[in-house]
Amino acid sequence: MRSGKSVKVALLGCGTVGTEVVRLLRTQAADLTARVGAPLELVGVAVRRLDRHRRAGVVPSELLTDDAMGLVERDDVDVVVEVVGGIEPARTWLTTALKSGKSVVTANKALLAEDGATLHEAAAEGNADLFYEASVAGAIPLLRPLRESLHGDRITRVIGIVNGTTNYILSRMHATGAGFTEALEEATALGYAEADPTADIEGFDAAAKAAILASLAFHTRVTVADVYREGITEVSAADVASAEAMGCVVKLLCVAERHTDPDEPESVSVRVHPAMIPRTHPLAGVGEAFNAVFVEAEAAGRLMFYGPGAGGAPTASAVLGDLVAVARNRLAGARAASESNYAALRIRPMGEVRTRYHISLDVDDRAGVLATVAHVFADHGVSIQAVRQEGRGEDALLVIVTHQATDAALRATVQALAELDTVRQVAGVMRVEGEQ
Ligand code: HSE
Repeated sequence: MRSGKSVKVALLGCGTVGTEVVRLLRTQAADLTARVGAPLELVGVAVRRLDRHRRAGVVPSELLTDDAMGLVERDDVDVVVEVVGGIEPARTWLTTALKSGKSVVTANKALLAEDGATLHEAAAEGNADLFYEASVAGAIPLLRPLRESLHGDRITRVIGIVNGTTNYILSRMHATGAGFTEALEEATALGYAEADPTADIEGFDAAAKAAILASLAFHTRVTVADVYREGITEVSAADVASAEAMGCVVKLLCVAERHTDPDEPESVSVRVHPAMIPRTHPLAGVGEAFNAVFVEAEAAGRLMFYGPGAGGAPTASAVLGDLVAVARNRLAGARAASESNYAALRIRPMGEVRTRYHISLDVDDRAGVLATVAHVFADHGVSIQAVRQEGRGEDALLVIVTHQATDAALRATVQALAELDTVRQVAGVMRVEGEQ
C-alpha cells in the first residue's frame, strides 16, 4: 500500500454502470470511509469521448482522461475498477494493473469467461486482488457466497436464470401468447433489450456467466468454450403453449452440474439453453427481467439467490461492495484467496449429459403410428415418461415427454423420428428440467 491516507481508485469506463459508481462514491463517501477505514478517492476516470463526458458533468473535468493505459500505470493508483467490457484492450489494462500489484474490480464477464486464467495468473504474480461480483447477476451477492461462504461445502448443482432480457421476453410470451419476434420488439421498445440483442437472445451473455459460476462452484477452470449454448430465438408461441399445457414455463436456464457416476472419475457439465420447468419450481416464478440462481450443496441443501441482474445502480452496488473489500485488504496488507482450480474436473461434452426432452410431432392419425414412434424411442434406449395426443382429423399432434437419457441419444431419436414417413413434422423439441 502506498503511503498516504486514502485508497486511490482509477475508473475505466463511465457508461451506465460507471456513472452510478461515481455517484455512489460521492453520495456514500462518509459511510464508505468508515467501512474501509480510509477514504476511497477517485483519482481518474478513463473514457473514450472526453467531450461528451465533459458536457455531461457527472465527473469533474480534471479527473477525465482518454488515456486508460496511462491511468492504469500511474504510481499513485491502488485499485483499478473496470466497467468497459470486451476482451481487448480491457485484458491488457487489467493484467498490467494486477502485475504491478494494483487490485482490480471488474464487471467484465466476457473477459473472465474467455480468459480468466490470464487475469488470475497476473493477480498471483502481482500479489493483488481480483474481484468480479458484478460480472454475474448484477446486484445479487452470488460470487462471494460461492467463493467464500460455501467453501466448506460441496456444490453439486447450480441452476439459474442469469439473463434478464431473455427472461423478460419469455415472460411476455407466456403472458400474451406472442411469438418470439413480437416479444423481442416489445422488449426493445421498452428498453429491456439492447439495439443489438444478439449476446442476450443467442445465449452468449448467459454462457459467459455460466462459465464463471461453474469455475467457482467446482474449483475447475471452465471457459465459455466449454459451455454448451442455445439461445431463445427458436422458441415459438406453440412451445410456450405446449409448456403451459403440461403445467410448465419456458426459461433460458444456465445449468452447471457435478457428475459422480460410480464407474468413472468425477466430472462437470455446463450448459445454457431454453427449457421447460414445472410451474411449482421456484425458478418458474422469476418474472420480468429478474435473475435467480439456485445453488445445491451437499450440506447446505438448496439455496436461492434472487434479485435485479442488470442496470446501472444494481451493478454499481456489486462493484462498490468489491471496492470496499479490496480497499480493506490493501489497508491490512492482505490479499483474498487466489483462484481455486485444484479439482480440475473433466468437462463433459453435451452429448454425455443426461436430460429429458419434450417433443411435439405432427403425425398421420392412423393405426400403428404411435407404435412406430414408440419403437424409435425404444431403439435408442430412451424411455417415455408421458404421451399426449390431440386428433385433428387426418393428422394428430403427438406430444412425448421422455425420462432422462443422454443428450446424444435424444438427438439421435429426434433425427430418426424426423425420417419416419408417418411423421409430417417435428414441430418442437425442448429440454425439460426440474423434478420428475
Ligand atoms: N444483458 C444482460 C441481461 C445484463 O439482460 O441480463 C448484463 O449482463
